[in-house]
Amino acid sequence: MAYIKLGNSDLEVSEISFGAWAIGGWMWGGTDEAAALRALEAAIDMGITSIDTAAVYGFGLSEEIVGKAIQGKRDKVQIMTKYGLRWDDTRGEFYFATKRNDGAPANIHIYAGKESIIRECEDSLRRLNTDYIDLYQQHWPDGTTPVEESMEALGQLIKQGKVRVAGGSNYSAEDMARAQTVVPQASNQVAYSMVKRGIEDEIVPYCIEHNIGIVVYSPMQRGILSGKIKPGHTFKPGDSRPDTPYYKKENIKRINDFLDNIKPVADGKGISLAQLVIRWTLQRPGISTVLVGIRNEEQLKENAVAMEFALSQEEMDTINKQLDELEILMDLS
Ligand SMILES: NC(=O)c1ccc[n+]([C@@H]2O[C@H](COP(=O)([O-])OP(=O)(O)OC[C@H]3O[C@@H](n4cnc5c(N)ncnc54)[C@H](OP(=O)(O)O)[C@@H]3O)[C@@H](O)[C@H]2O)c1
Repeated sequence: MAYIKLGNSDLEVSEISFGAWAIGGWMWGGTDEAAALRALEAAIDMGITSIDTAAVYGFGLSEEIVGKAIQGKRDKVQIMTKYGLRWDDTRGEFYFATKRNDGAPANIHIYAGKESIIRECEDSLRRLNTDYIDLYQQHWPDGTTPVEESMEALGQLIKQGKVRVAGGSNYSAEDMARAQTVVPQASNQVAYSMVKRGIEDEIVPYCIEHNIGIVVYSPMQRGILSGKIKPGHTFKPGDSRPDTPYYKKENIKRINDFLDNIKPVADGKGISLAQLVIRWTLQRPGISTVLVGIRNEEQLKENAVAMEFALSQEEMDTINKQLDELEILMDLS
């Protein structure tokens, strides 16, 4: 297992991190808590010591499960969590209407006012059953609160020892630059996968130039890049994936055709597509750690192997050439 320092900070994280959104169940068709706990415990034992969660994942449930898994192991793990998506407050910007795991309606608001962050931090510490958060990230930029105000809260929490380092998520280069004027930014957590490469234009060059870590989310585009989602796949009720462009029939077909074309690279190395996809992501310029969403021990064991091999430049080029020919249609209904 390789560990790296996140950006300019002293926070050392594992190259592959445990993404704990799905284990909260919300937007993923429910959760199996016992399976999630086994996966988290096995991940820590295998050296995947960095765990990414958020207050909003399962409306606190993901943080609670992570809190149970880290008991007695706190000094071995790095907890990365997020604030700024409120389901119990109507301030800030309305983001979207959703349903909780039990079907009750909820409205998500983006809000990162100073005192709201301080309160959210206390709530997260309680759910995580810890007295500090390693990386505290703003989940989404809040158009109603200047990022400088949000960072004042982070400065205070860092001084109090409740947070080690600050980071953003879904930040633009401008958000990062403004946040940096108040509190050093260890990282920006952003969407990146073989089929979603928008960060390569502006975010990656900015982060490399300013030594800000890039924490990648959804590297398997929520599972489809593992090759297991075929046309006609049935999702559980409450799973939001079919509503996204990547899971529309035509794109499922295109992605699977692309996966068939890169499969010889995986076969040649005796690895699975999921392992190939995670490794490709990790080896792209500027990437610090890849958050892999893991629901159970089986997925954990498969995905963790991506830390044990490297892709040659020739193998990367072969994949990139196939990617040049892949077009995802974004306007399918
Ligand atoms: N900051 C943000 O705005 C933001 C947004 C999204 C995610 N994130 C973070 O990033 C993490 C990872 O993103 P993600 O969960 O969207 O994406 P992902 O890693 O692209 O996909 C994870 C999902 O793929 C399936 N999967 C995982 N390993 C597999 C394997 N070996 N074979 C087949 N299927 C496999 C699982 O779902 P099934 O078993 O249900 O198919 C799993 O939940 C999240 O957990 C969260 O911590 C952050």
